[in-house]
Amino acid sequence: IKPHLYAKGGDYTVETLNPEERGALEEVGAKIAILPLVPGRSTTATLKRVAAGEGKTDDRLKIAVLGSGYGSNFEAIYEAVQSGTFKADIRVVLSDVKDSRILQKAAEFGVANLFVEPGASGGRLSPAAQKEICDHLKRHEVEVVVLAGFMRILKDPTLTEFKDRVVNVHPSLLPKYKGLKAWAQALEAGDSEAGCTVHLVNNEIDSGRILEQQAAPILTGDTAETLYARIQEAEHTLFPKVLSEWRERGLPVGS
Ligand code: GAR
Repeated sequence: IKPHLYAKGGDYTVETLNPEERGALEEVGAKIAILPLVPGRSTTATLKRVAAGEGKTDDRLKIAVLGSGYGSNFEAIYEAVQSGTFKADIRVVLSDVKDSRILQKAAEFGVANLFVEPGASGGRLSPAAQKEICDHLKRHEVEVVVLAGFMRILKDPTLTEFKDRVVNVHPSLLPKYKGLKAWAQALEAGDSEAGCTVHLVNNEIDSGRILEQQAAPILTGDTAETLYARIQEAEHTLFPKVLSEWRERGLPVGS
């Protein structure tokens, strides 16, 4: 090893260096720098603190929650985080609806929350909105993007930047009943059970890899409302559970 620079703590001077050490350094032309001691700090003490676990990296999953409406799934996720069953840091809540309850709830909980102007092209997010969402996610150092009732189609750049790290909850047992009001479709079809699905998001609507499903029975006399309430109850258990198992399931947290 032939260092250009050799640093030594301020409890030494060039004169008190081990003569052999000094000779070897001078031979290779290394500059010897004596750094002033910082009162109260020592390498030994720092090593002890590291060994004791201080400064251990934060293993909470950094998530963003995107929603357009009521935000009951966001509340269920938030409660799981608060109770410690889901080790996560909710970095930001984003919504395409300015006065949505989900943004109000986030503000109430003290979670960073932002409205993203969706743009004027019908139900679609404008390219500028797609980019803005991705920029917010990156700026908040998000690892996993959670869609909880986000009623617009999320595309690139987010889907590429967060490949296999965008997850959605859908109110049906996919692949049955994609799209809107899936529970009503199950009821109309005369099915005996409905349910919800947590799945990864890809370029096709409600078609990404299924992570887990929870069934909910369809009971005699059910209306669309009573059935949907039962499905949402299932969502509130299933979604936080699957998210809390993210790492154990071998799902990615970074690109
Ligand atoms: C949820 O039931 C979710 O399954 C559905 O929106 C609702 C949001 O409720 N999402 C979809 O239909 C997406 N295809 P919330 O705002 O009370 O969480």
